[in-house]
Amino acid sequence: MSGAAKGARHFLNLSDAGGDALAAMIGDAIDRKGARQGLPKGAVDRDAPLAGRTLAMIFEKNSTRTRVSFDMAIRQLGGTSLILDGGTSQLGRGETVADTARVLSRMCDAIMIRTDDHAKIEEMARHATVPVINGLTDLSHPCQIVADLLTVIEHGLALPGSQWAWLGDGNNVLHSIIEAAGLMKFDVRIGCPEGYDPDPAFIAEAEKAGARITLSRDAATAASGADVVVTDTWISMGQSHAEEKLAAMMPYQVTEALMALAKPDAKFLHCLPAHREEEVVSAVIDGPQSLIWDEAENRLHAQKSVLLWAFGLLG
Ligand code: CP
Ligand code: NVA
Repeated sequence: MSGAAKGARHFLNLSDAGGDALAAMIGDAIDRKGARQGLPKGAVDRDAPLAGRTLAMIFEKNSTRTRVSFDMAIRQLGGTSLILDGGTSQLGRGETVADTARVLSRMCDAIMIRTDDHAKIEEMARHATVPVINGLTDLSHPCQIVADLLTVIEHGLALPGSQWAWLGDGNNVLHSIIEAAGLMKFDVRIGCPEGYDPDPAFIAEAEKAGARITLSRDAATAASGADVVVTDTWISMGQSHAEEKLAAMMPYQVTEALMALAKPDAKFLHCLPAHREEEVVSAVIDGPQSLIWDEAENRLHAQKSVLLWAFGLLG
């Protein structure tokens, strides 16, 4: 587990928690979500397990879902949050990540950070004495995938042995899906143009754990017979909007014809924000197989589980 030296439970990647803890997180998210049906969204869960705790959130990139879901999650668990950004904190003027980690650890109970280089969050975890949670880096987006797993399970999918198809860029979200495949024993068929493959280290690790990860240049091969079809923006935050990349991605657009190759009850996921008519056509993302709004809402329920795990109250 990364950062274990100081004893804090960091969540930089899904493997920091492992498969059993991930299953416990999903189970707890389902229970908590069910238990607060009908309550106002700002109401605190009856047991208020994080009363008195403060989460510091640092955003060096834009966010809607991650920011709102973590803020509402800590409030529903009885705690509070505060937000720092690159533009107005000393981090943006060159104060080191290590010093920022030391200071925040003296005043707050946990840190969630969205940043670019994954090495920065590793540095944060090395110097923080409170849990550090990955709210997205260029390498991975583990919190998103806790919500994605929760969403498909809620919709009746048994994860072990299920077939996931990823279409498009081999990016941070895909890395966390591949990691989840190894931990939860499902398979991922990736349809991706040459030059945009995911990091082979994630594939090797998942395969070692028994998942089958296949890479194809043909979108139809990747989508055929899939239980879950997933895509994401072709241009991630921090990447330049290259016409060449958009052209290379076009054959991997998720269309109705591509969805028709998946299982008849296949589910469509997208972490959002989406670029309709780029990585996915409107008929699919707004269609009957799309779970995107449940997926977005589940960021909140998943975040609560991640926080409880990080505070040692789960898993
Ligand atoms: N899916 C996701 O992380 O959304 P935000 O960029 O809005 O946080
Ligand atoms: N791959 C996207 C995910 C956004 C939530 C990005 O990094 O911009």
